[in-house]
Amino acid sequence: MKRNDSGLFIVIEGIDGTGKSTQAKLLQKALLDQGQTVTLDHEPSDGPYGKILRDSATTGRLSPQEELDLFHKDRKQHVDELIIPALNRGETIILDRYYFSTMAYQGQRGFDQKEIQNTNLSFAPNPDILFILDLSVDHARKRIGARGDNTNEFEKHDALQYCRDTFLSVKNETFAHVIDASKTIQEVHQQMLNISLNK
Ligand code: TYD
Repeated sequence: MKRNDSGLFIVIEGIDGTGKSTQAKLLQKALLDQGQTVTLDHEPSDGPYGKILRDSATTGRLSPQEELDLFHKDRKQHVDELIIPALNRGETIILDRYYFSTMAYQGQRGFDQKEIQNTNLSFAPNPDILFILDLSVDHARKRIGARGDNTNEFEKHDALQYCRDTFLSVKNETFAHVIDASKTIQEVHQQMLNISLNK
């Protein structure tokens, strides 16, 4: 989908344990301090489809097709009702996960990644900046363990390796930046902030 706005659209992707949420909050604060109007959001969204997807993590996994359809419905609604209007107002959006996660996680469940990408691009705009927070699967899993979270169904080793590889596969897009997530929180933040301010 073509962009025609003056906003700044930043997406953060990476497997669990790479520090997405921490970095998203730090970046929001730093850009707010610069005087920007910044919305921090995530996908699956807090809308009705996103709620079904989140609930499915505890109530039982949906079929691959149901899941894919819901991620697309959720994203379309999110794009139409929140992302595009904010970008049209010239605001900054930081999004924790976007369609690259669908390529990774639903690709991992057997769907064709290129097809997922094309479907999404028919209704979802590309970001100005995509941060790929990159970390080895073992390191990321250690961090999740250290946090005391349960290693849930989404988070098995091979599946995560596939997802990491998928995120890295889009690194040649003009808007993509691979960030070494093994660095300290402050180092990663500084790198992301510099890139954001130079956009
Ligand atoms: P989320 O609740 O944001 O978990 P976390 O905070 O650990 O990232 O996301 C739930 C899961 O949804 C996450 O494991 C990745 C998955 N997901 C997909 O499978 N497809 C998608 O398109 C998106 C956006 C997320």
